[in-house]
Amino acid sequence: MTLDDGFIVSMMRTFCAPPTDEAIERIRSLTTRELAMTLSRLRVEENDVLEVTAPWDAFRRDGEWLDLLAALVVTIERDRGDVDAPLPIWPDLDESGAPGRFLYLYLFALCAAGMEEFLAREGCPEHVVEGTLGVLARHVAIHRRKHASVGVDAGWWMLPTLRGEIVDVGCLQYHRVNLGVGTLSPSPWYSDDDVARMGVGFRHGDPSVGIHIPDRAPITPERLDQSFAEAREVLGRLWPVAQRRLATCQTWMLDDHLARYLSETSNILAFQRRFTLLPVWVEDDADTLEFVFRSPGTAMADLPRTTTLQRAILDVLESGGHWRARTGWLDFDGVS
Ligand SMILES: CC(C)(COP(=O)(O)OP(=O)(O)OC[C@H]1O[C@@H](n2cnc3c(N)ncnc32)[C@H](O)[C@@H]1OP(=O)(O)O)[C@@H](O)C(=O)NCCC(=O)NCCS
Repeated sequence: MTLDDGFIVSMMRTFCAPPTDEAIERIRSLTTRELAMTLSRLRVEENDVLEVTAPWDAFRRDGEWLDLLAALVVTIERDRGDVDAPLPIWPDLDESGAPGRFLYLYLFALCAAGMEEFLAREGCPEHVVEGTLGVLARHVAIHRRKHASVGVDAGWWMLPTLRGEIVDVGCLQYHRVNLGVGTLSPSPWYSDDDVARMGVGFRHGDPSVGIHIPDRAPITPERLDQSFAEAREVLGRLWPVAQRRLATCQTWMLDDHLARYLSETSNILAFQRRFTLLPVWVEDDADTLEFVFRSPGTAMADLPRTTTLQRAILDVLESGGHWRARTGWLDFDGVS
């Protein structure tokens, strides 16, 4: 383990519950064959399954990795169902070689069944649970694009998914979050005076739905209409509320400056038009570069300028400008 990864691991261990004997035993008794079957069911490509399962025996014999994996399992299962439990956002452990890159694949394989049972028990339709499981393969594909190796990009994102508080419905991901309380609640939010004026739905602690746009999601207006319509139905039963509920989204994709560069028919601009933007924002060049180029460490001069968006992002940054993560909201349940 490198020094940097050692620091991240100590952060993870501080956040996590201590590993239990039961969790350690579960990991020790998971056979390579069972692991391979689960990863295949999770739609991880066959070659990747072979690569990931090959060092499993060595991984589970290594006390440090075993303890870390067990601590993550215990923490996910402890927090499942507690939507206000804090979420960690920590870097990946890619510097540690295969064990660090494979950690979240092992974690997903160990916790997926618990998440599926939880969502099914709460009333989530089977096809939505099935769609939600696709997050692992999607993040494996992003990792391959970025690093040309097997791993899970932004592994921390697996935690809220495995806790059962994010579901994929059609082309979007929907996240259950209480405003101002959950870690992924939009920040900054309206001022206290604005909140008092705007009332129910906007207040601290009000239930809301966070919208996330998966990588390469087909967000045509028709697909978005379908996703929102189905999500209203599914989440109306899964996470019912008796009051006004907002859907919020905080992302570079809501930066209204994009309208200066993208064509009127752009899916991103059509997505933007659905939301009311907050008057406050944060500058976020780093995430914008990450989501548009997925090319960490590449100098700006070497990044591709193939698409309108890529050219716009680079032109603005090269002229000293900045991109912003903006927050927007809409009435999720159609009540205002
Ligand atoms: C969501 C996504 C699929 C939308 O792409 P899209 O449907 O092509 O969007 P648009 O129709 O608005 O595209 C307009 C232009 O920008 C380009 N573009 C859009 N997203 C791009 C991306 N991530 N990388 C490079 N170019 C992109 C398109 O190719 C098009 O270029 P062109 O005019 O030269 O043909 C895409 O942006 C994406 O995969 N984003 C990553 C996920 C993400 O950022 N989520 C938010 C996290 S906070």
